[in-house]
Amino acid sequence: MTAPDAAGRLRPRRSCLAVPGSNPRFLEKAQGLPADQVFLDLEDACAPLAKEDARHTIVKALNEGDWTGKTRVVRVNDWTTHWTYRDVITVVEGAGPNLDCIMLPKVQDAQQIVALDLLLTQIEKTMGFEIGRIGIEAQIENAKGLVNVDEIAGASPRLETIVFGPADFMASINMKSLVVGEQPPGYPADAYHYILMRILMAARMHDLQAIDGPYLQIRNVDGFREVAGRAAALGYDGKWVLHPGQVEAANEVFSPSQEDYDHAELILDAYDYCTSVEGGMKGSAMLGDEMIDEASRKMALVVAGKGRAAGMSRTSTFQPPEA
Ligand code: GLV
Ligand code: MG
Repeated sequence: MTAPDAAGRLRPRRSCLAVPGSNPRFLEKAQGLPADQVFLDLEDACAPLAKEDARHTIVKALNEGDWTGKTRVVRVNDWTTHWTYRDVITVVEGAGPNLDCIMLPKVQDAQQIVALDLLLTQIEKTMGFEIGRIGIEAQIENAKGLVNVDEIAGASPRLETIVFGPADFMASINMKSLVVGEQPPGYPADAYHYILMRILMAARMHDLQAIDGPYLQIRNVDGFREVAGRAAALGYDGKWVLHPGQVEAANEVFSPSQEDYDHAELILDAYDYCTSVEGGMKGSAMLGDEMIDEASRKMALVVAGKGRAAGMSRTSTFQPPEA
């Protein structure tokens, strides 16, 4: 699901690096890290009194920095504050051509996405920017957002991702834990399973990416890997990273292993061959001891797509069976 489509959506987002918009040193440092995406934050990583200056610091960093190879996102404040419209206007007017998406936090219903979409269109028209190029990332961070996630995910063609915000979400539902991403003590199963699956279904229904939020114990890379591994196993495309130490781990966890990548490419070749005229136009075939068919091809496409987006190369080639 991570290869860019014709509209440039579905870019790789294995690691999505949070960078406080008020800190020029962090903005500089982020440019050298191998994260697939950066998001420059005007919301919770930016103190209320620093937000106005941070808008301009972000515009400068986007226009003058070297963000080659990274998806460039700015997280604005949510619509219940008085900051949102100015965040969007200042950042998009100032740096629109150097910006890929706006991330909207604490989304509660489809109208909040529609409002952002309309505002973006007006700015693009006024400034002569390409209409509709700037995407939207929607964060689900409370019960209302989760209950409305289907309509939120379908609210605008600009949407690229649905993002789980565990810290705000845990607070909003009174979860009995202070350790973001870890299981609340005393609960015998995975307390996040329903939430993650709910978001994933809505995202997939609308061909969007699903992204897991932050893991705050930044020195515990093993803990990060474990929590990221759970989201990756379900089908998530990536996870937020808050520290350089988490970047490599996220890139690894959300890429297929070399073995799985090779296997997926072989399935695709074998399926192409067996359905071709020279392969006998068959609907299924054997690849070694494994029977493959159209459903195997779909599964292989997902893994191969993730591997290609991660820049992996094959280490084996398909040999058609002897006639
Ligand atoms: C992220 O915004 C979170 O609340 O976890
Ligand atoms: Mg949040």
